Amino acid sequence: MGHFATGVAVITTRDVDGKPHGLTVNALCSVSLDPPLLLVCLDKRAESHPALGRAGAFAVNILGHRHEDLSRRFATSGGDKFGHVSHRVGRTGVPILDGVLGVVECRVIAAHDAGDHTIYLGEVEHLEASEGDPLLFFRGKYRRLSGN
Ligand SMILES: Cc1cc2nc3c(=O)[nH]c(=O)nc-3n(C[C@H](O)[C@H](O)[C@H](O)COP(=O)(O)O)c2cc1C
Repeated sequence: MGHFATGVAVITTRDVDGKPHGLTVNALCSVSLDPPLLLVCLDKRAESHPALGRAGAFAVNILGHRHEDLSRRFATSGGDKFGHVSHRVGRTGVPILDGVLGVVECRVIAAHDAGDHTIYLGEVEHLEASEGDPLLFFRGKYRRLSGN
């Protein structure tokens, strides 16, 4: 699957006590237009995994080509990932990262056991998008669009 080029996003959610959680993902896929559904696969070992299950909501923060540092930060467990990262609270109560390429806020409508991951199916509640080039991931490296 390393030969399958993807975008990169940070999934954000919050714990029952309001503590923000987030992790970098590329196992992310649109599923249905009517109703609007998407899925994300989360490693059961990720610290964000139980938080997302309990919160029942998450945001997909789609990263732009200048966000490699954000991707690396949210791909490392532990520490205060949100310190010095400008963010706000979205409509579903989860944190939203400022300045990203797009935001898709979702309610979890199903969770499917899938080996060492859980597939979370989210129904889209709110969308935001802005212009810019995406951050890409291909064969273990961050990439940028080149040419047209
Ligand atoms: C480009 C990239 C894509 C990733 N995709 C996923 C993914 O789809 N699902 C997942 O669970 N982890 C994925 N990871 C790994 C998590 O970001 C990483 O395990 C993170 O530290 C988990 O954070 P947490 O333990 O604080 O929740 C990816 C990492 C990178 C760099």
